[in-house]
Amino acid sequence: MTHPTDTGIYRNPTSYADPEFSKYMRRAFLAAAGYDREDVARPVIGIASTVSDYNPCHAHMPDLIEAVKRGVFEAGGLPFVFPTLSLNEIFFSPTTMLFRNLLAIETEELIAAQPMDAVVLMGGCDKTVPAQVMAAASANIPAVQVVSGAMRTGAWRGERLGACTDCRRYWARYRAGELTEPQLEGVTQSLCSTPGTCMVMGTASTMACVVETLGLMLPGGATPLSGTGDRLRVGVRSGRIAVAMARAKCRPSQQLTRASFLNALSVLNALGGSTNAIVHLLAIARRAGARLTLEDMHEVSQRVPLLVDCKPAGAGYMEDFHRAGGVPPLLKALEPLLHPFVPTLTGQTLGDYLNAVQPPQAWQSAIHTLDDPLGPTGALAVIRGDLAPEGGVLKVAAASPDLLAHRGPAVVFDSPEDAAARIDDPALKMTPEHVMVLRNAGPVGGGFPEAGSLPIPKYLAQKGVKDMVRVSDARMSGTSYGTVVLHCSPEAATGGPLALVRDGDLIELNTSERRLDLLVDATERARRREAFVPPPIPKRGWGHLYAKHVLPAHLGADLDFL
Ligand code: FES
Repeated sequence: MTHPTDTGIYRNPTSYADPEFSKYMRRAFLAAAGYDREDVARPVIGIASTVSDYNPCHAHMPDLIEAVKRGVFEAGGLPFVFPTLSLNEIFFSPTTMLFRNLLAIETEELIAAQPMDAVVLMGGCDKTVPAQVMAAASANIPAVQVVSGAMRTGAWRGERLGACTDCRRYWARYRAGELTEPQLEGVTQSLCSTPGTCMVMGTASTMACVVETLGLMLPGGATPLSGTGDRLRVGVRSGRIAVAMARAKCRPSQQLTRASFLNALSVLNALGGSTNAIVHLLAIARRAGARLTLEDMHEVSQRVPLLVDCKPAGAGYMEDFHRAGGVPPLLKALEPLLHPFVPTLTGQTLGDYLNAVQPPQAWQSAIHTLDDPLGPTGALAVIRGDLAPEGGVLKVAAASPDLLAHRGPAVVFDSPEDAAARIDDPALKMTPEHVMVLRNAGPVGGGFPEAGSLPIPKYLAQKGVKDMVRVSDARMSGTSYGTVVLHCSPEAATGGPLALVRDGDLIELNTSERRLDLLVDATERARRREAFVPPPIPKRGWGHLYAKHVLPAHLGADLDFL
């Protein structure tokens, strides 16, 4: 008796030069695990798990995985959970970004090497979701993203708190001497009151909303909080729809089009979302073969105002956004600016789906409308000029208006470690007018850490200085704020112009002209370029492979062979 080779447990047969032997062996080994012939005739739904004790953002994920499995069983499928790398922002050194592509390649290879008709991707913490969507774009089998969900807020001394915008705000106050050690400890115990992802519009929340917009997540799936019945029901429904998608053979290549990426950029701007989402969207689009550039990001930003009241661009938290309806009413509010013919996960077009969605309701204040936006357009700007010829990114919504046009002398740090060692040294004699430059923190130079929002030097913070212009080839956390030009490309480690800056050089930021310039004459710059010596890259392991093959920030920082 022969069995189909392209479905269920028979997909991707083990190579024995005898396909029927491979199928027979799979039935035999699955029989040992308690599966009978009826089981093995079902569509197989792989469930990519990122459960890890090192990832408290995913601590409720085991229950959520059980919910997904129940949905798969109910719809007549056979769920197989498989473990993958798990990336938590707080526990990875030097940065999870160094490992995003490792999770992406691992997930893609596991999808391709194991039998599954569809995959449910269980992620949440910042880099997990982009890595999994990159994998789905490349593997191109039916895919459903599920996220662990945001934490609930906590409180300290009557003030509502959330990770991690409030983490940074209170840390800055502690550095400025406004908070005692015991008070800081009180804050520390109150910032993360439940498992789940950061409950502000950081990278995790931004990517969840963006992936819902891309049509790889159930409508309404981005915002239910971790550990709630809402979140578990998203899991069950995701399991059911994964089986339907396996039968219908819907593929990410049908969902990930230029139009869906432009919609995602509109949502990113309306959210006041993380700058990291720009890098991730560029990487996903490249994998999907969709045309998307930094200029698209800038153009969309000029058209779309801030609509969602969530920190750091607003004052609220993810639970407020969720209670107001989450992404569906936001999409309804943005409808005139969206491409309506892109598919949602349910197979409907976005336009048809939105016909049944209510606009933001009057009883809530978390989601604004185009007629009554929370903030202006232009929340994110792509900056060019001498120091970022291929582009850098400035989150205008999180910057100080009086620093958006600024000229000041440079203080240069050669790495995040150099900055950590010297930034508080009064001998540097920094003033609020100085421009802090951090280099060798791009993809090649440092694995692209979230080091760009350098702290204000302690001796200036204690005088009440809250913001200074900072320039780097690094990223910053989606929960950060300040006048910080990020992702300057090409990066210093590959000879980009940040490598030419010396202490005392004048730097000019002109946001309205979209320029970041080094006011040093061409002859001197040429002399410095001649003297440039690239920093060493890691000699072995993943770090070596990454540094050899990573693409620049403006192309998404994926590996060049993926
Ligand atoms: Fe995991 Fe913020 S640290 S989402």
